[in-house]
Parts: sequence; structure tokens; C-alpha cells
Amino acid sequence: MTTSAGGKGSLDGKVAIITGAARGQGAAAAAQFVREGARVVVTDVLDGPGDAVVRVLGERAEYRRLDVSDEQAWAKVVAEVEASHGGIDVLVNNAAITGSAPLDEMPLDTFDQIYRVNQRGVLLGMRAVAGPMRRAGSGSIVNVASAAVFRALPGLIGYTATKFAVQGMTKVAAAEFAPDNIRVNVIHPGLINTPMREDIPAEENARRPKVPLGRLGEPHEVAQLAAFLASEASSYITGGDFVVDGGFAL
Ligand SMILES: NC(=O)c1ccc[n+]([C@@H]2O[C@H](COP(=O)([O-])OP(=O)(O)OC[C@H]3O[C@@H](n4cnc5c(N)ncnc54)[C@H](O)[C@@H]3O)[C@@H](O)[C@H]2O)c1
Repeated sequence: MTTSAGGKGSLDGKVAIITGAARGQGAAAAAQFVREGARVVVTDVLDGPGDAVVRVLGERAEYRRLDVSDEQAWAKVVAEVEASHGGIDVLVNNAAITGSAPLDEMPLDTFDQIYRVNQRGVLLGMRAVAGPMRRAGSGSIVNVASAAVFRALPGLIGYTATKFAVQGMTKVAAAEFAPDNIRVNVIHPGLINTPMREDIPAEENARRPKVPLGRLGEPHEVAQLAAFLASEASSYITGGDFVVDGGFAL
């Protein structure tokens, strides 16, 4: 087992569900969590890439199909994970879609689909794990929003609406779940080098402001923050905003 310095992983013994983990930042978080000693349930709607991720990560990772907008799918996955692993300690609500289009031209069915995945999916996830985390007496939920909450990104009207909602829902959830020792925090990545960037038209990317650190972020740089928020190292942190963007939002 490869663990952090000192041979003891910061997530030793923890069971984590990560959504949208077949690629990009979710896959990087899965790898980081396994390195830190967690058992990781990689979930996504891309079964082939999801299977490939867990093959690389080894026996402490498993893949389960989970469309985050589907309430029944959440109930099934959470019940199975709790039954087979004895509890759920961490949820990373990472899955999202961009649905890029100018405000004037945004098809309403695209707007609704972005909402279903990015916003409703996060609500369903937090709600689904609350029971197991209460039974366990603790838990950490890490929601993934975006630096779009701090800096307007043309073309991302639907996406940005949902990311503000994720930020707001994080605060309410943190307040409601605090008596149960369940912490809820939100990460705001900037421009990160993942397949999601290919969904955004090149002309929109070209109009983006420059990143002060002079480069895109890499998925593992976000994963390290997610692991910190999942671990006991952040035991007194809840309801917080964590920007990982190379200064993009400055
Ligand atoms: N890449 C960036 O520059 C950037 C910037 C800010 C925020 N983010 C956020 O980071 C998170 C991860 O993004 P990424 O860059 O790794 O993107 P990505 O597109 O590489 O990965 C997103 C994953 O979510 C999955 N997914 C899509 N719809 C789903 C559904 N209905 N149910 C379950 N899974 C679904 C996809 O299949 C994919 O594997 C997202 O919340 C995204 O909004 C990314």
C-alpha cells in the first residue's frame, strides 16, 4: 500500500463515494484517496472508463454506475456500499456537465439537463449519504462548484447558475448537518486540464482571462484539496469555500 509520509494515510479505513470519477478530476481524486488509504467507490455514467480507472487503482477501488440525477440510482448505490463496506465516510459530489451556449441561444432542455446533473445531483447525493453518515456518527461531504462563482465566464450561463446553487446548498447543508458531525465544504477549481475543457468552444476559452500562475491546473492539484477536506486534518472546517485556481479569480 502506498500511503502519505510516515506510512499512515490520511484516509486510512475511510469509505468514499466519488461521482463523475471515470475521468478528469474525479479520477484524480479516486487515485489520491486510494493513495491515502481509503476504499473508493468510483461512480459515473461512463462504464468503460470507470472500469479502466479501478483496474489501475487495484483492490481498494470499485466501479458502480450512478447517474447523479437519478434518485433511485442513489438509493441503490448507497445501500449497497453501506451494506458491503459497513458505512460511508466521504462523498465527493464531483460530476457535472457544461452545456456551453450564449444566454440568448441556450436551449431550455439543455438548461434543464445542466440543472438535473449539476444541481439536483448534488442535492440527491447529500441527501442519500446523510442517513449512513448519521449512523456512523460523522462524515465529510465535498461539493465541487467552480471559480465561475467568482468570475463571470461567458457561454456558461446554465453551468454558472448551478455552481452558485452548489455553493449555496453547501452552506445550508453544513448548517443542517453540523449537529450530526457531518461536515460539508465546497471546492472552486479554476481552469483545470481535463476533458471538460474540450466541451467549451475554443473561442470562449481564448477569451478567458489569463491565469496569474501562468498555466492550467492539473487534476491532482484539486484532488489534494479534496483529500484534505475528506480527512480528519480538516476536522473543524465546515461550510467553507476553497478556491484552487492559480489565482484565476483574483
Ligand atoms: N475542468 C475545469 O476547468 C473545471 C473548472 C471548474 C470546475 N470544474 C468542476 O470540476 C468537476 C470535475 O470536472 P472535470 O473537469 O473533471 O470534468 P470531466 O468532464 O472530465 O468529468 C466529469 C465527469 O462527470 C461525469 N458525468 C456527467 N454527467 C453525469 C451524470 N449524470 N452522472 C454521473 N456522472 C456524470 C462524466 O461522465 C465525467 O466522467 C465538475 O464539477 C466541474 O464542473 C471543472
